[in-house]
Amino acid sequence: MRKKELQIFVYEYDTLVELSESDQKLIIAAREASENAYAPYSNFHVGAALILENGVLIKGNNQENADFTDGLCAERVALFYANANYPNSKVEAMAVTAKNSNGLVKEPAQPCGSCRQAIVEAEVRFNHPIRLILDGANKIMVVDNAESLLPFAFKPVVLG
Ligand code: THU
Repeated sequence: MRKKELQIFVYEYDTLVELSESDQKLIIAAREASENAYAPYSNFHVGAALILENGVLIKGNNQENADFTDGLCAERVALFYANANYPNSKVEAMAVTAKNSNGLVKEPAQPCGSCRQAIVEAEVRFNHPIRLILDGANKIMVVDNAESLLPFAFKPVVLG
């Protein structure tokens, strides 16, 4: 038996202005995107913004449906749009924010498991880490890559 410890680096910031200018810009874009979320059922408005290697900034937000399971999260709306329209440009970073009925969520917005899996796929596809910047009123959390949030992710290599 071997007991192994995983090491994950998490960077926490108390205020937006502590972040680099480019990360601040991404958070602000994600907040803007959350304003256009279609979330009449949950009233949970999520915004995502990502920056591509070619400098293009893409925004997404959650899109809900009366048939609840047919909606899609903000992160995947943004990521799939990026990959569909810029299939050769690496995703460098993604910011995620969320608002509930009290405003900006207190703790950093966390991508759901399916979004984590989709973002890891993009990391594998482009062989490039995607920095995640997760917005919250109490703190902003940054991780170096999506895999930090999904250790032992399902990866295409196992398909043989
Ligand atoms: N949601 C996202 O957009 N991203 C996540 O990572 C978590 C959840 C959306 C889905 C649904 O529209 C609403 O938030 C409530 O779950």
